[in-house]
Amino acid sequence: MNLYSTNSHALHTDFLHAAMQGLAGDGGLWMPEALPRLSAEFFHDLPSLSFAEMAVRVMQAYIGDEVPAQDLEPFVRDAFNFDAPLVRVSDRLYALELFHGPTLAFKDFGARFMARAMSYSRKIFGTTHPKGGDLCVLVATSGDTGSAVAHGFWNVPGIRVVILYPQGKVSDVQEKQLTTMGANIAALEVQGTFDDCQALVKRAFQDASLTQEIELTSANSINIARLLPQSLYYFRAWAQLPAEARNSAVFCTPSGNFGNLTGGLFAQKMGLPVKKFLAATNRNDTFPQYLLSGTYNAKPSVETPSNAMDVGNPSNFVRIQELYNGSIDAVRRDIRSASVSDEETLATVVRVEKEHGYLMCPHTAVGYAATERLLAEPEFADSVGIVLATAHPAKFGTVIEPALGKTVALPERLQDYVRKEKRSTVIPNDYARLKAYLLGN
Ligand SMILES: Cc1ncc(COP(=O)(O)O)c(C=O)c1O
Repeated sequence: MNLYSTNSHALHTDFLHAAMQGLAGDGGLWMPEALPRLSAEFFHDLPSLSFAEMAVRVMQAYIGDEVPAQDLEPFVRDAFNFDAPLVRVSDRLYALELFHGPTLAFKDFGARFMARAMSYSRKIFGTTHPKGGDLCVLVATSGDTGSAVAHGFWNVPGIRVVILYPQGKVSDVQEKQLTTMGANIAALEVQGTFDDCQALVKRAFQDASLTQEIELTSANSINIARLLPQSLYYFRAWAQLPAEARNSAVFCTPSGNFGNLTGGLFAQKMGLPVKKFLAATNRNDTFPQYLLSGTYNAKPSVETPSNAMDVGNPSNFVRIQELYNGSIDAVRRDIRSASVSDEETLATVVRVEKEHGYLMCPHTAVGYAATERLLAEPEFADSVGIVLATAHPAKFGTVIEPALGKTVALPERLQDYVRKEKRSTVIPNDYARLKAYLLGN
């Protein structure tokens, strides 16, 4: 797979190097030069393929020129050892549940694949670092991203992960998810805020006397190795639809940084039949406003109940522009967008649970409300809607319980964490202490 940088267009690399690098050297995002078309045979077989079998074939099309089949298959199967079931919620509306991985959110797909891609890349190319040694993935987290990354890299050879989180500022379940993994995952409990954790990590990356000693990387969310897997579940959703609905599906993606939506656009360019994409946002409506007015105005984010989507300047917007060569008319042909208020979000959680017995996280509810509106339009009278259910509702109990007027039970997998013993190293908000820790002093 050949990729170019969205900044200079003249900067090129291949997938395995892009996965190690994250951002391009000129600060741009890596973007595939071309997306492969999947064969009619693939779509014919798709309904009978498991998630892992489908993933092997799609990944082969993406990166089979760099990773031989005998290497690709085991690492893809190992990354995607859980499914994305499509659940019928109402007559014409389905939820694609992306929360059956270890941390109960869609990020598991991207993080598990990226970890294996990085490990493979090191195996093939070795380390360019003069001191050799393990690659150290350094992450600051306010809760969720850290655990998806930690789980993704758990027991991956040649890599260790150090997670910094703010003491007392993540939920109990999140803390247990970060601190009970052991093996190659270490948790540093920083006596400070999330911003302090981020500042410490940033300083580490800029500290030449540290990076001379150990090889550091960031496992950033804009890494192309996290993005490619986000196209896979669109194929899996399509495969689970009744045959007669397969050409009329609207995919609704609850959006923040628009990585998930970009994954869907990749799937469509590879041949997946999609009637329309619907990018649903909360009150952070930069994208719907852009489609309305034709002008992109990044704004500061505002807080909403779907807080993982509180983004005023989506990082993948530039990738969407690249896909459509900057033509807003072309974007409008494929994508609709709608913003949903905080009140409607919570009311949707409550109503859908009451009417259909289906409980959603607030992010999924934003998508559900937007899809109901779209399906009511005459143009979509014959369509079905698929909403990406991006996280398990129990992860957002504190947000939805007051609206529901009852508690939401933690699934067994989360309860398992709560029972385990926390193992963290407490450090003050002091860079010298972080550095000493990383150097093993
Ligand atoms: C639960 C949940 N839903 C939706 C989103 C938005 O996804 P994206 O940033 O890819 O648009 C996120 C992002 O972190 C999330 O955590």
